[in-house]
Amino acid sequence: MKVVAIVGSIRKNSYNLQLAKYVQKRYANQLEVEILDLAPLPMYNQDIEMDAPQEVLDFKAKVKEADAVLWVTPEYNATIPGVLGNAIDWLSRVEKVMNGKPSIIMGSSMGNLGSVKAQMHLRDILFAVGLNSPVLGGNEVYIGAVHEKFDADGNLTDEATIAFIDGVIANFQEWMKQYV
Ligand code: FNR
Repeated sequence: MKVVAIVGSIRKNSYNLQLAKYVQKRYANQLEVEILDLAPLPMYNQDIEMDAPQEVLDFKAKVKEADAVLWVTPEYNATIPGVLGNAIDWLSRVEKVMNGKPSIIMGSSMGNLGSVKAQMHLRDILFAVGLNSPVLGGNEVYIGAVHEKFDADGNLTDEATIAFIDGVIANFQEWMKQYV
């Protein structure tokens, strides 16, 4: 199964990027996860959407090819970060590559709530008319105090979180049987 990971942080040492890389590595024999880079995407502008830059076309082609999208996001000001909103705006227009494409959401933050508000908003956005993406229910991955759960080499070390994500990925694969 091909999965693209869209990470809502473009900083080099992003914990959410580390989480996406962790999923990519740990489940490599079950899922083919490609992490997409949002940094090259220009700001969405309706004036250029019909003749979108190559970076946008490449990004959308990757999403289109995938069986599912893994969203891994921090929370910025109690919602999704701008880079993620920008990517979603591109995905929602012209060729609507998210239409009917399944999504799974994870996220982390340094606070205790682990990006819960961002994820609630993201879930709502994905269900909305512009995207129409079915989202795996339950299985909510909120990793709080994330800076205490990854080591300096970017490895997830928290046993409870590791076990929880194992369960979520198993449920995700079961749920995906209706789509692939
Ligand atoms: C944050 N952070 C944050 N955390 C949170 O739990 N709720 C919030 O509303 C916010 N708001 C917020 C706004 C902005 C502009 C920044 C830069 C940060 C903290 C955030 O969780 C923390 O920086 C994470 O480490 C960001 O994720 P990455 O980049 O490590 O993936």
